[in-house]
Amino acid sequence: MRELAGKVAVITGGGSGIGRGMAHAFADSGMRVAIGDIEPAAGESVRAEIEGKGGDCTAERLDVVDREAVQRFADAVFERFGAVHVLCNNAGVVTFDLMDEITDADWRWVIGVNLEGVVNGLQAFLPRMKAQEGEKHVVNTASIAGIGPHEGIAPYVATKYAVVGISETLRAERPHHGIGCSVLCPGNVQTQIVASGRNRQDTVGGPDHRVHPDVQSQIAQGMDPMEVGRIVRQAVLDDDLYIFTHPETREIFDARFAAIRAAYDKADARAGDA
Ligand SMILES: NC(=O)c1ccc[n+]([C@@H]2O[C@H](COP(=O)([O-])OP(=O)(O)OC[C@H]3O[C@@H](n4cnc5c(N)ncnc54)[C@H](O)[C@@H]3O)[C@@H](O)[C@H]2O)c1
Repeated sequence: MRELAGKVAVITGGGSGIGRGMAHAFADSGMRVAIGDIEPAAGESVRAEIEGKGGDCTAERLDVVDREAVQRFADAVFERFGAVHVLCNNAGVVTFDLMDEITDADWRWVIGVNLEGVVNGLQAFLPRMKAQEGEKHVVNTASIAGIGPHEGIAPYVATKYAVVGISETLRAERPHHGIGCSVLCPGNVQTQIVASGRNRQDTVGGPDHRVHPDVQSQIAQGMDPMEVGRIVRQAVLDDDLYIFTHPETREIFDARFAAIRAAYDKADARAGDA
């Protein structure tokens, strides 16, 4: 995308952390911003911050798991702004348990928000974005946990791999719909992600206020989410598919792909022996 000023960005989970960072970065470039967040007060406070510096921003309560609510959110955004140029499917949650301890409700919650939430966003926005003239772009927030395995967060890893796959496919399909796509794969960022149980819906067990001091201290040393927002903005301008914010996470990619390459070498050797 060559020019952002005057265009429209939609950000789910825009009330906190990385979504807030993206909302500010896009607003600072003159974009109009629509936030959908399950925490109305959080979305509202980011709206007030952006309007306080002269930006144009709306914020609505939105649960990305609720497909009809996402459709209504899209209707409201198109009604208010007339177009959507950058769609950021960013809302996400995490649980911390080993595989044998994860409950049905844990799986359903994380799959619901991190995967179905992205699908709902794509279904609600893509057809109208496709019909629109000019450049348009999707940013899906995955994680470095979408690039390689991470112990203790299997549902999160599963959904983030899925988001990487969806994003790569959307990008490959661009000749058919003209919509660009980036997938954001950060390492640790200073946000409220470790306390994401605060927003757990009653249908999947209700709020979970367990604390996780070890992860919390790692996240507390993470990157400033405002910096992540600026990196995402530049990646949209540069039309990058993968957005890596933490160079040191390369070793996670290298380890996974070295193992895959070794398995192919073994397959080649087997085929050679046959
Ligand atoms: N913080 C990190 O270290 C990190 C690293 C990699 C990826 N991520 C990803 O970044 C994204 C943003 O998370 P964050 O770290 O900024 O956390 P955060 O908790 O600070 O922000 C997440 C926002 O999403 C909202 N949200 C939660 N459930 C929702 C739902 N059902 N519908 C709508 N909104 C909902 C929350 O209210 C919150 O405002 C997530 O997808 C997360 O997986 C975070």
